Amino acid sequence: MFRKCVATFVQNKIANIAGSSRPTLCQSLYERATHSKANSRPPKILITGGLGQLGIECAKVLRSQYGDDSVVLSDIIKPGREVIESGPYIFADILDFKGLQKIVVDHRIDWLIHFSALLSAIGEQNVPLAVRVNIEGVHNVIELAKQYNLRIFVPSTIGAFGPDSPRNPTPNVTIQRPRTMYGVSKVHAELMGEYYFHKFGLDFRCLRFPGVISSDPPGGGTTDYAVAIFHEALRTGKYTCYLRPDTRLPMMYIEDCLRALLEFMRTPSDRLKRRVYNVTAMSFTPEELVEKLSTYVPNLHVTYRPDGRQDIADSWPQVFDDSEARRDWGWQHKYDLNNLVDFMVKDVQENYIDKEKANMYAATSRASTR
Ligand SMILES: NC(=O)c1ccc[n+]([C@@H]2O[C@H](COP(=O)([O-])OP(=O)(O)OC[C@H]3O[C@@H](n4cnc5c(N)ncnc54)[C@H](O)[C@@H]3O)[C@@H](O)[C@H]2O)c1
Repeated sequence: MFRKCVATFVQNKIANIAGSSRPTLCQSLYERATHSKANSRPPKILITGGLGQLGIECAKVLRSQYGDDSVVLSDIIKPGREVIESGPYIFADILDFKGLQKIVVDHRIDWLIHFSALLSAIGEQNVPLAVRVNIEGVHNVIELAKQYNLRIFVPSTIGAFGPDSPRNPTPNVTIQRPRTMYGVSKVHAELMGEYYFHKFGLDFRCLRFPGVISSDPPGGGTTDYAVAIFHEALRTGKYTCYLRPDTRLPMMYIEDCLRALLEFMRTPSDRLKRRVYNVTAMSFTPEELVEKLSTYVPNLHVTYRPDGRQDIADSWPQVFDDSEARRDWGWQHKYDLNNLVDFMVKDVQENYIDKEKANMYAATSRASTR
């Protein structure tokens, strides 16, 4: 899997930048982190919903910065061996407030990264559960963060906008009337966090992410095609896309996404003019992605069969304006469509397809020697 490269990338990036002559935001973040490490213990961080697309990689990045034991990964799913061996992992149901209190107390948690959610397409299939997990869950973690004075990060999404929002570009503050339960719950989370910030001084932080692309399986969102196509195309040379070829959506490679999260969490509170920021890296359509991927898979054959996700995509931003994040805390993306495709092809080929072939070969050899 993609695995170790995200953590290594962020580590190297910060180390490289720290070694360059001109001070940059990352360098000053690095210096602040080193300085604060020398003076006090690193933050103890709890990640909820940690076994999804973002959580495991996020734990790696944070552990590379603060140490393995400083990051407690949690979810309601039984973890694999790799997860258990990489650092603390516990069961945490975000609907169980008392259970969460116990975790925060027992582990002396300082930061809470709240990833638990039902994503857009899955949420539409089970609205009552999406309401519970995405809305009741947010009530629990925000109240918890207030009680225990935690810095809390809750991701939002391009799905927090709707058909009435300007779509190209979509500014940081504009009309938000989403038509999915996922979007409604994310607007709710943004407003709850801002309310707790103004009313109680809660250190609430929220980034609206676009579709996040990594080689790990995504969790049932509308932008998932941009991950699935790599796996299918490299295996079979074919892919059936559930969106129209001209559906433009904002996207971001996972390294950029997690670096944004880390840099944002480390930014001193007084530099933040807002508690909720748009961040993005690029926007592309399925046909633009196919064109680029065809340089690796020359006979790639893609058919288009739009389903219910097309309606969702048609109500979302096409181009995301993240100029406020760039201005206030120095956000800069690294990956565009070209280097995204280069990295994804290499990653999926080496960490999935080649490994599967090696496993099959080993199984066949074992069977033939019996
Ligand atoms: N992946 C993206 O493209 C993307 C884009 C924008 C925002 N986000 C946000 O980032 C966060 C993480 O996204 P992801 O892609 O990793 O999601 P995912 O669907 O892959 O993972 C979500 C996790 O939440 C867990 N969960 C469900 N119910 C729970 C409960 N009751 N208690 C505890 N955990 C529970 C699930 O087991 C799952 O592992 C979500 O809040 C999502 O809205 C993701």
